[in-house]
Parts: sequence; C-alpha cells; structure tokens
Amino acid sequence: MQIVAMASGTGTNFRAICQGIEKGEIQAQIIGLIVDKPEIKALEVAKEFGIETYIIDYKQYRSRSEFNKAILEQLKMLNPDLICLAGYMRIIDEDIINNYENKIINIHPSLLPKYPGLHAIDKAVIAGEQETGVTTHFVDAGMDTGPIIKQAKFSISGLKLDEVYEKLKPIEHQLYIDTLKEVLGE
Ligand code: GRF
Repeated sequence: MQIVAMASGTGTNFRAICQGIEKGEIQAQIIGLIVDKPEIKALEVAKEFGIETYIIDYKQYRSRSEFNKAILEQLKMLNPDLICLAGYMRIIDEDIINNYENKIINIHPSLLPKYPGLHAIDKAVIAGEQETGVTTHFVDAGMDTGPIIKQAKFSISGLKLDEVYEKLKPIEHQLYIDTLKEVLGE
C-alpha cells in the first residue's frame, strides 16, 4: 500500500504515521509528502525519515484552480493507493476527490459532525463541552463531512485550552495509526 501524505504545518500526525510504519504497525510505504508552502516543519520530518517532498507553493499560483491542477498532476505522477491529510489546511478540490474517491483520509480535532472547520478545539471548549475528541474520515466535497472511519473521545472537563491541545495530540496520533490499520485491513 503506497501512501502520499499532505501537510501544511508541524507534521506531528505525519511523524506518527512514519513511526507507525517504521515500527511495523502499519504495512505501508510513504512515497511522498506534498506541502502547500515552503519552510514548514513537516518538511523536516520528511527529511528525517528519508521521504521525498513536493512543495507546491500556493503563493506561486495565479488562481486556486491552477494550484489545484498542480496538486492533481503531482498526485497522478505519484499514483498513491491512499492519500493521508495530516494537518493539510486547504480544501481539497472536487476534481481531486473524484479521482480518489474514498482514498483520501483526513483527521479532524472534534467529534464530527460537531465543530467542523477551523478552530474546532476552541469551539468545543468555548461551548463548555465536557468531552471532545478526534475523528478520521474519508474526504468528500463538503467541509469535514465525509464518511467517518474512527473516533476517539476524551474528557476536557476542568481543562484549560492549552491543556486540551496537549491532551489531544497523542490521541490524534494513535487514532491515525488505528485508522490506517483498519483501512489496510490489518
Ligand atoms: C491536527 O490537529 C489535525 O486534527 C488537524 O490539523 C492538525 C495538524 O497537526 N487536521 P500536526 O501538524 O499533525 O501536528
């Protein structure tokens, strides 16, 4: 199973996937990391694990559609079995979704369908939720609306926002590994 990861940030989920593969927990290979801007930490993670990187810098394109075309072309060249979004902060274009139906996985920091979109953790805390969680799902044309694969819940009762962020991270990482195991039928 050949995976392409896509990221826009620190890449801690990407690292977790790389480590899961390295430890033999996930029977797959990461054949590339696509990022939408240069100089992000996820690129350093890729370097550490010897993974090829493809910087498709959003700012270098005149329009969103040209940017998306470049992403799709790169994906076609890599021809992955699965695409793992790991903190990729742009909406996936419908053309890409149509080419990779039920092959694009995203991780989102809420118990979807609650709190889709940006600032999901903050929204859960501000709403006074006693618990929140993480969801992995296949990507469809909506915003965090695709078929749910797995969820993990945890209590946030009495926690400050930064404590919730800290508690969430290892839960996300484990959920991504468990999700890939399930999707790969392991
Ligand atoms: C995670 O919280 C994930 O749920 C969301 O983006 C964040 C990425 O974090 N989609 P990281 O870059 O993997 O640390």
